Amino acid sequence: MKGRIPRSFIDDLLARADIVELIDSYVPLKKAGRNYQACCPFHNEKTPSFSVAPDKQFYHCFGCGAHGNAISFLMEYERLEFPEAIEELANFYKLEVPREEGSRPSRPAPNKAQLEDDYSLMENVTRFFSHQLKHHSKGSEAIEYLKNRGLTGEVVKAFGIGYAPPEWDAVLSQFGKSTGAKQQLLALKLVNQNDNGRQYDFFRERIMFPIRDKRGRVIGFGGRIMAGDGPKYLNSPETRIFHKGSELYGLYQAKQNHRKLEKVIIVEGYMDVVSLAQFGIDYAVASLGTATTPEHVQQLFRNTKEIVCCYDGDRAGREAAWRALENALPHLKDGCQIKFLFLPDGEDPDTLVRQIGKEEFESRLTQAKPLSQFFFDNLVEQYRAGSLEEKAALKAAALPLLEKVPGEQTKKMLLQQLARFTGEQDQVRSQQDIEAANNAQKTKFVEYKTPATVKQSPIRMMIRLLLAQPSIASECLEITDTAIAQLSEPGSDLLVDLWRESVNTPDAHGSQIVERFREHPNFRHLSKLLVEEMPEKDRVKEYRACFATLINSHIKSRMDTLLAKSQVATLTLEEKQELVALSRAGAK
Ligand code: UTP
Ligand code: MN
Repeated sequence: MKGRIPRSFIDDLLARADIVELIDSYVPLKKAGRNYQACCPFHNEKTPSFSVAPDKQFYHCFGCGAHGNAISFLMEYERLEFPEAIEELANFYKLEVPREEGSRPSRPAPNKAQLEDDYSLMENVTRFFSHQLKHHSKGSEAIEYLKNRGLTGEVVKAFGIGYAPPEWDAVLSQFGKSTGAKQQLLALKLVNQNDNGRQYDFFRERIMFPIRDKRGRVIGFGGRIMAGDGPKYLNSPETRIFHKGSELYGLYQAKQNHRKLEKVIIVEGYMDVVSLAQFGIDYAVASLGTATTPEHVQQLFRNTKEIVCCYDGDRAGREAAWRALENALPHLKDGCQIKFLFLPDGEDPDTLVRQIGKEEFESRLTQAKPLSQFFFDNLVEQYRAGSLEEKAALKAAALPLLEKVPGEQTKKMLLQQLARFTGEQDQVRSQQDIEAANNAQKTKFVEYKTPATVKQSPIRMMIRLLLAQPSIASECLEITDTAIAQLSEPGSDLLVDLWRESVNTPDAHGSQIVERFREHPNFRHLSKLLVEEMPEKDRVKEYRACFATLINSHIKSRMDTLLAKSQVATLTLEEKQELVALSRAGAK
């Protein structure tokens, strides 16, 4: 196997390449102002809307939205994989592509060849189970079962649902032809071994649900019994490729169905995900027999801004929802929201959607309880909050939970709501708190004159500015990555990453920097921002102005949070000091 291509080579190659020259050799370009134009090679058109920008080393089609750098162009135009596109581009400039030695891999990956082999075996076993559904002599019973559950052939196919036949060695004999192959089956828990050393299939006589990771690779199975005794569902145990706590059944399909996921529903079972998809609600995921973990929430918020958790209306369902809420709080950034939908007694999403249909189900989703409401409903029910003692107990339960919320605005509002429940919002505060509060209120926020062009969020603007001119980061070194990270605004993580790249290589052009983000979840987003036009005038000034705006609103919001907190609790010494420092900073 060939070694990895070093990052530094890709970087140098892009610095050396000229996208105009490259594309012109495939699609003749005409100069138009600062840029070059042609009819788009990626869709049919008569008037040119395909534009190539030499300063950014980037192309963009206003018609179909295609965009990217020289490497992306070759990937799209020649239908090449990433390393092949690099070979091709290097070839264009008569350069040899170096490969990293196998002896010092850049990532200590757990034996890559082995993993690839594991995934390919899992895929083959998936196909085997699908095949058994149609061709095994008892497959018709499985098909009958699926029909009785109301599943269409189409959705069965879309989710790769199959059938593990009753024989004790169906998988073993098909896939375990050598000792090595048997070892692999054992390692992936497709085959078990008893104390006498006898080996047998793990899944027998069950409906098989392949579980895919977010890249679409099969990493495990869930198997449902059709009749008789035994656990209703048998799931693959943890293996070297299967880690339950971080995987979600259906996420891959949901992402395939939607380029942008407006919302994601979390349900409990495989059947719920599949049935909802059959009814056109193809954005549901299920945790794998575990509660909703913090990793699940984090993972989902990378793909969507809204999560709706569906649970039974009974006590167990409410308890599960509360655990999900606790796990979600540390990931609740401003702009992200979680809602809770409690289902009628005895129903799950599978049975409910079959009764009420897509439209009604979706309308219930929009009416789901926001986290704040579920949070306080639950606490008030538990502590009642009538007497002073009850209010104190409610507060004691609520505060440590709310402390976990990273979103300043969300936290602030939750704290204000808490003050309403405890009736403390108008009450006398400790002398020190009052002083701090007075100081804060006296503070006048400096009005920076922000250029009229800053209409979008300042973070986004800073990202665009750095992409247009990476040297800005080094010109404004007073704005550090730590300072940006402290803002904890949506997008500040991305800005930090971009800032670091820009400071390290101030002379790089935007598309060279974006290239380093190809594996980053925000690669597409960055590429789009690079496309946007950015006037050359006043870039540095604007970058500073954006940051000033951010700092001001951060100070204000953090002060509001501390003040809101001071209404329901005594601030710690550190918090009081912070408040004083913030009011000084704001007054500067
Ligand atoms: P449910 O019992 O709610 O199953 O378990 P379901 O999805 O509604 O399935 P049907 O409709 O009866 O076929 C929810 C989830 O809990 C896990 C599975 O992941 C299941 O989808 N589970 C349940 C198990 O792992 N083992 C079990 O024995 C039962
Ligand atoms: Mn069910």
